[in-house]
Amino acid sequence: MTTQKLTFAAMIGMDLSYAKQQLVAGELVAIPTETVYGLAANALASDAVAKIFDAKDRPSFDPLIVHTNSWDRVQEWVQDIPELAHTLAATFMPGPLTLLLPKKPIIPDLVTAGLSRVGIRLPSHPMTQSLLATLDFPVAAPSANPFGYISPTTAQHVDDQLGNKVSYILDGGPCQVGVESTIVSFEEGRAIILRKGGTPIEAIEAAIGPVQVQAHSTSNPQAPGMLKSHYAPKIPFLLGDLPLLIEQQKGKRLGILCFSQQLKHSDIVFQKVLSPSRNLSEAAQRLFAAMREMDQMDLDIILAEYFPEEGLGRAINDRLSRAAAR
Ligand code: TXA
Ligand code: MG
Repeated sequence: MTTQKLTFAAMIGMDLSYAKQQLVAGELVAIPTETVYGLAANALASDAVAKIFDAKDRPSFDPLIVHTNSWDRVQEWVQDIPELAHTLAATFMPGPLTLLLPKKPIIPDLVTAGLSRVGIRLPSHPMTQSLLATLDFPVAAPSANPFGYISPTTAQHVDDQLGNKVSYILDGGPCQVGVESTIVSFEEGRAIILRKGGTPIEAIEAAIGPVQVQAHSTSNPQAPGMLKSHYAPKIPFLLGDLPLLIEQQKGKRLGILCFSQQLKHSDIVFQKVLSPSRNLSEAAQRLFAAMREMDQMDLDIILAEYFPEEGLGRAINDRLSRAAAR
């Protein structure tokens, strides 16, 4: 008998042509981006897109972002692009930014959860750019984690949870930005930020002037992308003033997630300092891996502190608040 592959475990590797072959066949491929790993499928094929919702256990009211390699191609899928969107694209794409634009009928309603606009993103990760350039369709890709859990920033993270649900995991190393893209929508000629992310608000305002931020927390499913509880570890998670929280949780096995300063207390079992040099980009890059690592440990509770509310610190605080919301 010839040797047969009996395992259903995903293959991890750097084989772009195999990744392409699987996507063309309508299968799921995990792809690296500079923000987090995505779970990709042909965005123009409803059957393929449906597999994403299945694999993630994602409710169909939560729309997907569509990824491609070049701004010149997006006219194939969207129309009536506002001038501000062109300016933002010229300034920040490829990069950690998603623009919500009026979709053409060629984008299946499943991708946008029935909404009239579709999120468009051009990831800057070189491996994924090469892959997208060879495809004659864009890919829909949410973060490659089970719905509601922490986003993956390495190929191993994807394999740990969705390994048996994808055809291939393209390994592009650890993600450089570490938090998801900033999402921008347009209303009556103005830009509105719906999710704080890898492109800082300050940079966006430097390019187009003051913008409104509407990245509220909500538990209302009518507001996709802003679910209050998200990015949540399984171990209870609290956010606030660390010395105070430590006092309140006395006697428990504590995990501490902090910016730069090591704390000392006999209840602390594990402590992760995200950036001793107080670099918010470094902290963002390491955030989700640290949360996952701590979630594997024998801890009663994870305590985290607020980061400076500037630059990538805003996205970090947003993710920590949602992780703490239950
Ligand atoms: O950095 C990122 O954006 C990553 C990488 C893989 O590209 N993707 C990502 O996708 O974070 P996802 O699905 O995990 O989060 C996208 C969020 C969702 O919460 C969704 O509700 C919102 O964007 N969203 C997508 N399309 C939308 C639309 N048409 N209108 C409103 N919200 C939308
Ligand atoms: Mg996600």
